[in-house]
Amino acid sequence: MNSSFRRLNDEGRVAVAPSLLSADFSCLEREVRSVEDAGADFLHLDVMDGNFVPNITFGPMVVSGIAKIARVPLITHLMILNPDTYAEQFIKAGSSAVSFHWEACRTGHADIIAKIHSLGCDAGLAINPDTPLSKIEHLLSEIDLLLVMTVFPGFGGQELIAEAIAKIGEAKRMREKKGYRFVIEVDGGIKPENAWRVREEGAQIIVAGTAVFKCTDYAGAIRAIRGS
Ligand code: DX5
Ligand code: ZN
Repeated sequence: MNSSFRRLNDEGRVAVAPSLLSADFSCLEREVRSVEDAGADFLHLDVMDGNFVPNITFGPMVVSGIAKIARVPLITHLMILNPDTYAEQFIKAGSSAVSFHWEACRTGHADIIAKIHSLGCDAGLAINPDTPLSKIEHLLSEIDLLLVMTVFPGFGGQELIAEAIAKIGEAKRMREKKGYRFVIEVDGGIKPENAWRVREEGAQIIVAGTAVFKCTDYAGAIRAIRGS
């Protein structure tokens, strides 16, 4: 597990990972610098393939470009079919952690996690708002990151689905009971006004796209979401 994740577990701190999905791609380097200077702990990179989700974003070439300029670790969120085929390219592009969706494949999740680990990267598993934790319970001992989605993946700027929040606390309790190591990341519809709800449940990395990039004060938004 990378040292940034380990530190979150050890120090019990909340981190913010701005999602570049809502950044201005005509000046990506400036956007990356601005959120880093504003206190971003990670960058969250949303990869969509037009198949698993009805939207297309970017691939490994763009991730590798971002890796060249980023000072904070990159958490790549794969919203794609066949993550087993493509994970390696995103690892080689410079991701610190690669998460794929449980819903993206019928079987073979443990093999993909093992493959990501064998390539020296942290492995994350993402679950949609309507996927219960019971579906992935057997994989929780293997992963470094659990990505709890609070919107259905595909687009930024959606409303947070409140029913998904309870899974954060549920995952935290399972982790404590069994002594697992995974860090809990929460993604979708989080803004300064509602971030306390996911923090209170135990979110360790909070993703925010619109709430950071569509406001004028990145530092203020990040501070408010982190709650400190
Ligand atoms: C949704 C993406 C999210 C999204 C977050 O498919 O996975 O990371 O960009 O954006 P906001 O914060 O606007 O919901
Ligand atoms: Zn995401």
